[in-house]
Amino acid sequence: MKTTNKLPPIIIDTDPGHDDAMAIMLLIKSKLFDVKAITTVAGNVKIQDVTNNARYVLDLLESDVPIYSGETRPLKRQPVIAQVHGNGGLAGANITKTEKLNHEAVNQIIRIVRENPHEVSIVVIGPETNIARAFIKDPELPKIVKQLVIMGGTIEAPGNKGSVAEFNIFCDPEAAKIVFDSEVKIILNPLDVANHMPMFLEEFEKLKGSKLYQPIISMMTHFIKGIEKFELTKGALMYDPLVAYYLVNPKAYKLTNMEVHVETKGEYTYGMTVVDRRTWGEKNPNVSVITSIDRKSFVNDFVKIIRS
Ligand code: BDR
Ligand code: CA
Repeated sequence: MKTTNKLPPIIIDTDPGHDDAMAIMLLIKSKLFDVKAITTVAGNVKIQDVTNNARYVLDLLESDVPIYSGETRPLKRQPVIAQVHGNGGLAGANITKTEKLNHEAVNQIIRIVRENPHEVSIVVIGPETNIARAFIKDPELPKIVKQLVIMGGTIEAPGNKGSVAEFNIFCDPEAAKIVFDSEVKIILNPLDVANHMPMFLEEFEKLKGSKLYQPIISMMTHFIKGIEKFELTKGALMYDPLVAYYLVNPKAYKLTNMEVHVETKGEYTYGMTVVDRRTWGEKNPNVSVITSIDRKSFVNDFVKIIRS
């Protein structure tokens, strides 16, 4: 009898973005997952651009993973866009195709999770609008998603969009609040860790010989230029691939359970992730927060997987 080795199903919910592109490449090239869908969400740039960018990345990978476009704006607030990724959200990439928007992301997230209860990990590397919409439409969903692996928020580090908020959460705080207050299991990669783990151009040079070398060097050169204007580093901040890598090699991670809430009413703190860091009193931890990642393993595996 033929035996099939079933790979763990995942969905990548994303707003590409340079670091999103690296996360998508890492997950697909690893061949460790059954990538059921790329769902796009307005975030780094508008929905048409992020969806075109997702198509560009999948074409580079010669991948037939379906793309479902998602929410075009946040639940309540005015849309925000990012500055570090340049025009179109993926400066340095040769985007030539306009991907037709199908607005199917929310329905497809629900379908995929319903068809694979307790099995699907969702890699959430954009604003949480699609996920919140799916939870509103299907309130049982948080209980049957295996886990959300989220790039978002900050514990002690300053914000990267305003003084206290991280970009993905700031883009749609109301959506993030729905997600964090739900029963879903969350693994969170906050800025605190990602800020200290840039990858440098010399490290991307190790991809020489790979088909992806040229496009990656071109994208990362532009990303680093964008980052230099706003952050104190000369490297590419690998926010999204760092959380994606958790699924590839969880042993490289240290996690601490924390109680995390999203501020939606503050005049100065809108979009802040408020963490109860008191050492006393009762806590209701709702999130496993990544507190450290083995950088060497990440960089070595990233290079190995992309070259493979
Ligand atoms: C997050 O913001 C976006 O610009 C990146 O793609 C990442 O998901 C980091 O704060
Ligand atoms: Ca992103």
